[in-house]
Formats: sequence, C-alpha cells, structure tokens
Amino acid sequence: MPQAEKKNGYSKHIKRPSENDFLHTCVKHTGNVHSQFSFESLQESAHYLLDRTSIRPKIGMICGSGLGAITDTLTQKQCFPYEEIPHFPTSTVKGHVGQMVFGYLHGVPIMCMQGRFHYYEGYPLWKCAMPVRVMKLIGVTHLIVTNAAGGLNSTYNPGDIMLMKDHVNIMGFAGNNPLQGPNDDRFGPRFLAMNKAYDKQLLAICDEVVEEMGLQNITHKGVYTCLGGPNYETVAEMKLLRVLGVDAIGMSTVHEVITARHCDMKIVAFSLITNRCVDDYDDHTEVNHEEVMVTGKRMEGLLKEFVSRIVSRIKETFEDAAK
Ligand code: HPA
Repeated sequence: MPQAEKKNGYSKHIKRPSENDFLHTCVKHTGNVHSQFSFESLQESAHYLLDRTSIRPKIGMICGSGLGAITDTLTQKQCFPYEEIPHFPTSTVKGHVGQMVFGYLHGVPIMCMQGRFHYYEGYPLWKCAMPVRVMKLIGVTHLIVTNAAGGLNSTYNPGDIMLMKDHVNIMGFAGNNPLQGPNDDRFGPRFLAMNKAYDKQLLAICDEVVEEMGLQNITHKGVYTCLGGPNYETVAEMKLLRVLGVDAIGMSTVHEVITARHCDMKIVAFSLITNRCVDDYDDHTEVNHEEVMVTGKRMEGLLKEFVSRIVSRIKETFEDAAK
C-alpha cells in the first residue's frame, strides 16, 4: 500500500480504533476497567441478606463442586438463590445449586456459598470473588474455602484431602488478578502481602481434627493452583506445574482467597482430590467431570463431619478471645 494512504499505520479502509473501542475491548477481555461493583452496590447485596435473616455469621464458607451437601447439616436453614440477591451473578455449572445458605452448624452461625462463580463461565475474576466482599460486609471474619482438585502430586489419591498451605497464582502471572483496577481502601490496601495467606492457627485446628477423625493417611498439606478452565490440563502443562511446586490443580479458590486476604479475613482452604492428574503420555486415562462429582459424592459424609468439627473449633477460638 502506498505510504500516503496510511495514517499512523492504518489504511483508509481500516478504521483506526478510538479510545472507546480500546476501553470496550479491555472491558470485554478483563471485565476490569473501572467496572468492579462499588462498595455501595456490595452493601446493597449485604443488606438484602441482612434484612431477611437474623443469623449473623462470623464464619463463611465456599462449597466446591460436589461439596455443597455440607449445607444439609445446617439447622434453621435459610436459602437465598443468587438470582434474587441484588448484583449477584448466577452460577451455570451442572452440580452447583447456586444459593447463599445461612444456618447453624452445631449451634454456630455460618453462611455458605452453595455453588460459586468460575472464570470459565465468562465472569472476570473480581466478579467471581465478589461474594467474599459481601460476606465481609455481613460480618464474616473467618473463611473456609473448599474445592475439587486434581492430584498432581503422585502420592495423592482420589478421595484424599489436601489442606492448602499455599497457592501459585498462575493467572496472576499473566496479569489477571481480582484486585486489578481502582482500589477501594474501605476493603483493604492497594498492595497486599500474601505470604501468610493461609492462617497458621486454622491449619493447626485442621491438624487436630484430622487426628481426632483418624484421617492422617488420606490428608496432605500442599500447594494449589487455579487454571482458568474449563478444559483440564495437557501433559506438558502438568509436568510444568509439578516443576513449579504445585500439588493439586483446580479452577477456583485463588481469586477468592486473594479477595478475602485483601479484606483481612482469616482463611483455611482444602481440596478434595477427585482424580489423578495423569502426567504421562503412555497413560490413556482421561479425567472427566463425572469422576469429579462421583468422588465428591463418595466423600460427602466424611467432609460434612470434617467441616463441622473445624467450625466448632473456630467457635472455641472466638470464645477464648472473648475471655
Ligand atoms: N484439573 C483442574 N481442575 C480440576 C481437576 C483437574 O484435574 N479436577 C477437579 N478440578
């Protein structure tokens, strides 16, 4: 094309993108250009719930794929479908109910997300994690996060529990972070330390419960990573992640934990290992969603007991702090 027909590298036949086109593209790809929910709109979500229940939980929980049955154990249960809560996205995954459940677990007030929001559903990370901020505004100080994950560490078996001692924010390596965009200091600081993301005291509580329930043989402490999904990993990706020190792979949790640390919650998280991550070209086993759900179902009873004992012990720490 003759140089004269070009202006700033664009020919007269190709429209030069305007500033607005650029912003539109950013919003489309990151969902993040000044588009997080405001403090006020999150308060509207919180007040919607506070106005409809007298339960005032300090403990919040996010239930992973196939782990939502933990909410069956709650008494005086009140359920709020996500589509009825102002500003909430709706969950689209088979096996996820999609509601906020309030109730008492052995007398301890708790609120649970039964069904969470995933990046692969098309939501930006800040939107996947926004319910954590709503929990904060409701008064939650302690967050229990659960997920289903593939066991990359070769000593892990389906049905095992991995207490998360840390995570690798792989999506963050590519600049995708739930805290991206303007910071609201009412939630937390612009720059956030993450070296104490998983609370030591809560991990010690889990150790006690593991021992009490005799789960030592099926419990590990390890490092989790979240990939955006929805596809599972290639062999080369699994080999790479192993080199990076990852023990289990899932499609959630990391952005929720970052958002929860940002607003100063204490966090404990664990993965139910639902399948092996087969990082061997000669092994023809393929992971599938049904396998993930079946393992979730098989471990349901045990995990309900595990979580309720953790909750009872967290409550004891509140009582000790009040003495
Ligand atoms: N990979 C990623 N996410 C998962 C897996 C897995 O193998 N299993 C359950 N969630």
